[in-house]
Amino acid sequence: MYAFRPVTPGDLDLVCRHRHEMFKASGRSDEVLAPMTAAFRPWLEPRLASGAYFGWIALADDAPVAGLGMMVIDWPPHPSHPEQGERGYVLNVFVEPGHRGRGLAKALMELATDEARHRGIAYMVLHATQMGRPLYEGLGWRASSEMTLSL
Ligand SMILES: CC(C)(COP(=O)(O)OP(=O)(O)OC[C@H]1O[C@@H](n2cnc3c(N)ncnc32)[C@H](O)[C@@H]1OP(=O)(O)O)[C@@H](O)C(=O)NCCC(=O)NCCS
Repeated sequence: MYAFRPVTPGDLDLVCRHRHEMFKASGRSDEVLAPMTAAFRPWLEPRLASGAYFGWIALADDAPVAGLGMMVIDWPPHPSHPEQGERGYVLNVFVEPGHRGRGLAKALMELATDEARHRGIAYMVLHATQMGRPLYEGLGWRASSEMTLSL
């Protein structure tokens, strides 16, 4: 019933919408999110063009119904990946409400981990919404020690 294809530069508006809707689903308002989404678009455009941001879109009858983004981020070697100076980073995981609970996010996550393995990446990271946490835990992801400070 569903097909999957790689994200392309033509998905600029779609990926912006997925990111906006993902944060909205975690309780933020359009008003609060508007500045982020406005700034995300020009950030994303060159990264989509260069392939620094990549990912997959799930389709139902050729219409996009879910998406996931990925980046390979520069990171110093760490006990979790002692011989490697990079990490796989997953972001903007979003499934349209009418298509949830059918395994789409799980399938997108499998595409991401397969791609990471294919690229020889030893360690992956993401920041989970409360809604996303059970999905990731079910796939073997574990919470980390990250702390943050807004300045
Ligand atoms: C979270 C989200 C991506 C899950 O997408 P989905 O396609 O419905 O998830 P799947 O159908 O692939 O579920 C995979 C597994 O996770 C579980 N799961 C997914 N969402 C869950 C939830 N909210 N609560 C409990 N379990 C959940 C499913 O039961 C399933 O378990 P199973 O493999 O044992 O059957 C989707 O609800 C969504 O887009 N939410 C809004 C945006 C968001 O929060 N994204 C995550 C950003 S980190």
